[in-house]
Amino acid sequence: MKDFAGKIAVITGGGTGMGRELARQLVAEGCNVAMCDVSAEAMAETKRLCEVEQLPQGLRVTTHIADVSIEGQLQRFRDELMEQQATDKIHLLFNNAGIGGGGSLFTNSREQWERTFNICWGGVYFGVRTFLPLLMKADEGHIINTSSINGFWASVGPGVAHTAYASAKFAVKGFSESLMTDLKLNAPHIKCSVVMPGHIGTSIVSNSRKIQSGSESAPLSDVEIVVARERLKGTGVDTAAMSDDDVQRRVLDRARSFREEAPMTAAAAAKIILDGVKADRWRILVGDDAHKIDERVRKTPEEAYTPEFYQSYRDAVGWKLD
Ligand SMILES: NC(=O)c1ccc[n+]([C@@H]2O[C@H](COP(=O)([O-])OP(=O)(O)OC[C@H]3O[C@@H](n4cnc5c(N)ncnc54)[C@H](O)[C@@H]3O)[C@@H](O)[C@H]2O)c1
Repeated sequence: MKDFAGKIAVITGGGTGMGRELARQLVAEGCNVAMCDVSAEAMAETKRLCEVEQLPQGLRVTTHIADVSIEGQLQRFRDELMEQQATDKIHLLFNNAGIGGGGSLFTNSREQWERTFNICWGGVYFGVRTFLPLLMKADEGHIINTSSINGFWASVGPGVAHTAYASAKFAVKGFSESLMTDLKLNAPHIKCSVVMPGHIGTSIVSNSRKIQSGSESAPLSDVEIVVARERLKGTGVDTAAMSDDDVQRRVLDRARSFREEAPMTAAAAAKIILDGVKADRWRILVGDDAHKIDERVRKTPEEAYTPEFYQSYRDAVGWKLD
């Protein structure tokens, strides 16, 4: 798809981060956008930002509350979209919504683990199931599923458990790659890409906490303190002398530094994603760190989960993610 003008795009998780920037850049190119999120407030801000420049006549930006892990809510989003955008077709589907957390089968609850897995994987699967009939009706369509570098490297370092997110992101990658053949055979006018970002400066750390525990800034619960101590220990921090308040400060500061000290902004990432769609690339790596880890995992797969591999990679890309 070389041109987005006059098309209709669905974006899940359009409230902040890369979803917001995708919405802004698509609208700037004259594309209609229908987004969903669990935060009405965040979507209202995205819509406002989209409308800062006067929208071309007739262009629509609509917002819809839907939790992507619940199929019925996505179906309601689809029905609202069809009514509010007066259409029975869409051209672009960005399955972007995702959260982190729930990393361990041992220190996290089953509920937390499955929440992360069901949003990151279920959201993509239900998104495709729900919107495929509308893509079928368009003259050309493109599905863009956001995985992660954790979709080909299941780690954020050897001391930190990361099972829910990595499993879901591997599933998104496998689904997207196999979907390409299914589409070629059965709906050749629809393309599919998988997006694998490295570290992008967004609020995913605080948003994930909000979704996992109901608040992004409230004091950590006793369970969260235990999990946070485990994580810090896993990254080599000596937590023995740290009070719970120290741990709390460290966790809040991590959310800030993740957003503010990243090697790439969400806007730059969205541009790479949209350029990748226009260039018809099925595999869209985002960031120098993503390219480097891709090369390294392929070159030495047996080493990929050793401390030496992680340390050398961190040094090469300058990650500060503790
Ligand atoms: N930021 C990174 O470093 C990074 C790296 C690799 C992959 N990713 C992936 O990129 C995607 C976008 O993440 P981001 O960094 O822009 O994060 P973000 O938190 O800024 O944006 C994600 C949006 O999705 C929404 N959301 C969360 N759960 C939802 C649900 N159940 N239903 C609907 N909306 C929901 C959030 O409210 C938020 O607005 C995610 O899939 C994430 O896993 C991010």
